[in-house]
Amino acid sequence: GLRKKEVNVLCLGLDNSGKTTIINQLKPSNHSNHLGPLSPDWKHVSQTPAQEIVPTIGFNIEKFKSSSLSFTVFDMSGQSRYRNLWEHYYKESHAIIFVIDSGDKLRMVVAKEELDTLLNHEDIRSKKLPVLFFANKMDLRDAVSSVKVSQMLSLENIKDKPWNICASNAIKGEGLQEGLDWLQDHIK
Ligand code: GTP
Ligand code: MG
Repeated sequence: GLRKKEVNVLCLGLDNSGKTTIINQLKPSNHSNHLGPLSPDWKHVSQTPAQEIVPTIGFNIEKFKSSSLSFTVFDMSGQSRYRNLWEHYYKESHAIIFVIDSGDKLRMVVAKEELDTLLNHEDIRSKKLPVLFFANKMDLRDAVSSVKVSQMLSLENIKDKPWNICASNAIKGEGLQEGLDWLQDHIK
């Protein structure tokens, strides 16, 4: 049959924002009725509670397939001591998922700093790769809206790349499919 196009996706964001929880929701092993290759169109995004997730050390690599693409996702650690690993994967990446903890207003400025550093990096600056933001943890009582998150991160300043922001609750899997559908449509 037709070979699916292989794409590398970098999953970035501060520690505790929910990157691994999001990626874990896409894993076929989370789904008891899963048979063989992943079903098309992210139908495997689950509503079931994810297994216990621990802070990522370094990074993890996960592979998924959608109807048209074969994804290799680099789930990076967001801890400050590991953030210097991120840039080693910029050159090879076709898309970025940037996760924000919508309830962590104190560290929103740190998230913005890391985002600005990313967008100004020589391996990213001139690339037209799509950037998907998840304003995650929308279930928290004091979570700010995705519109507010995009204002706090000055996303309107991103002119040279397609970007989108989706509110998500990674524990329940809410908002993930919408974001991933968008990402898939914008990967070249
Ligand atoms: P690092 O690997 O350290 O960079 O963190 P991470 O971004 O991978 O975060 P992780 O997925 O480990 O999630 C951190 C904590 O947030 C865990 O306790 C998750 O259960 C919790 N969490 C993730 N997503 C959500 C969400 O949408 N809502 C709530 N309330 N908690 C969430
Ligand atoms: Mg993690």
